Amino acid sequence: MFNIKPIEWLGGRVRWLNTLKLPWDEEYVETEDYERLAKAIETMEIRGAPAIGVAAAFGIALAATKYEGVDVLEFKSVLLKVINRFSRTRPTAVNLFWALNRMERVVRGDYASVDELRESVVREALRIYDEDVRTNKALGEVGSELINDGDTVLTHCNAGALATAGYGTALGVIRHAWYSGKKIKVIATETRPMLQGARLTVWELKKEGIPVTLISDNMVGYVMSKGLVSKVFVGADRILRTGHVINKIGTYTLAVLAHYHKIPFYAVAPTSTIDPVSRLEDVVIEERNPDEVRKILGKLLITIPDVDVINPAFDITPPHLVSGIVTEKGLITQPYEENITRLLKPT
Ligand code: MRU
Repeated sequence: MFNIKPIEWLGGRVRWLNTLKLPWDEEYVETEDYERLAKAIETMEIRGAPAIGVAAAFGIALAATKYEGVDVLEFKSVLLKVINRFSRTRPTAVNLFWALNRMERVVRGDYASVDELRESVVREALRIYDEDVRTNKALGEVGSELINDGDTVLTHCNAGALATAGYGTALGVIRHAWYSGKKIKVIATETRPMLQGARLTVWELKKEGIPVTLISDNMVGYVMSKGLVSKVFVGADRILRTGHVINKIGTYTLAVLAHYHKIPFYAVAPTSTIDPVSRLEDVVIEERNPDEVRKILGKLLITIPDVDVINPAFDITPPHLVSGIVTEKGLITQPYEENITRLLKPT
């Protein structure tokens, strides 16, 4: 298996694979500056819900490593400011806030010295990283039970290793099914405007020799109507207690089409993607730069330069269109509110 390390802690430095450069260049970037890392999340050099959570945790760890003072209270206030900075990088994926809440809990603890607090912060960031890879492997195991030998699985955007600390969520399920010997095929949607499907999902699957066919987003209805899709597996940026799945723009369209064609539609996500508190109306759907739609990857202008554009990065799939939610703790099915509440109950 090709072992992609999208983001790594190098003891006081963070290294990541710049996903904006893929599939043309495998460019790794390194920094010891948390602001550079925050910018990498904003510009989507690092993207995907679990990956941005891990990156933000590493950002706090970078700030902790850099601090040269001796006053614990001052150190805490510096770290809380950095947490606040990362909370403003991207608004929709809840894993970011989940990771920042964990870091904040650690920062607010009792410490006898700056060194003690620094060590705790770095340890927590590494724990978030390690847990993510382990959780994704567990997701893969749970989800691949839903895949039969010979299936063609359609996926959207990139919910792969490149969207996590490694292995991936929806692509983790596909990986697990493939390596357990099931002869499957994948259809990847290109995912306009940032082309995560065409650039990243295809790159990952090709590296491992998992058969993949690329389609443009507007071909989904056609391939489904022709019986070419057995199941849909997508990732998620936030799942509400009600079972609403917030994921890359276009996911809702896929879910409606899957429902119409009676094709099972699964979301795959760690429980850190479940937001048990927000109401639907509280969720902020990120609106990105209109030029992402007017141009192809900032280069080729495909329309009139000043045309009005909307560019929501995510959409919301209602629970009745979701056949199941694959988590590391098992598959959740309807009724979602009841089953999610039960799943999240501390044991
Ligand atoms: O805008 P992006 O590329 O960060 O959006 C990513 C997605 O929507 C993924 O499908 C989602 O984060 C799940 S990734 C494991």
